[in-house]
Amino acid sequence: MRLLIKRDILFNHLSAPVMKTGHLNQLKEYKQHGKCTCYDHSVAVAKTALFWSMILPFRFKQKQLVRGALLHDYFLYDWHKVKLEKLHGFHHPHIAVENARRDFKITKIEENIIKRHMFPLTPVPPRYRESVLVTLSDKYNASKEVFVALGHKIRGLHPATHLANSIAFMIALLPWR
Ligand SMILES: [Fe+2]
Ligand SMILES: [Fe+2]
Repeated sequence: MRLLIKRDILFNHLSAPVMKTGHLNQLKEYKQHGKCTCYDHSVAVAKTALFWSMILPFRFKQKQLVRGALLHDYFLYDWHKVKLEKLHGFHHPHIAVENARRDFKITKIEENIIKRHMFPLTPVPPRYRESVLVTLSDKYNASKEVFVALGHKIRGLHPATHLANSIAFMIALLPWR
């Protein structure tokens, strides 16, 4: 519990500059999965990834981790309503990265987090530890949101939590640059 409070304090500190600039608040207008907005989803992905970075025995660039996670779905449209030439699932990381480049000065790690978060749906894998954590956190939170939307209540100790933590731990052991 104390760790979660520590995580939230750190999250508020690291996310404040991104929250103040750009159009992140616009994500509150768009639904992601079920009743969850893109904003809620992005904050959940960032907080989960930050929590894992605190418990895993490796060093993570936490500022870039949080910024990249908050911007990973920064595509700024309602994907349920807008018809694109290419499928949203494959194409939105590119739109998100273009928007992020326009509104923020993003680093290579942040760019990689945004571009590669849909792996393995998009074939190129994430390159950095931070990108791997966000990719896993995205899957974990998206599944939770979909289950909640389907009416299944997921409690704190759901097996998916353990599975996601274990996978994050194993992948973090690989020699990511
Ligand atoms: Fe996404
Ligand atoms: Fe996402």
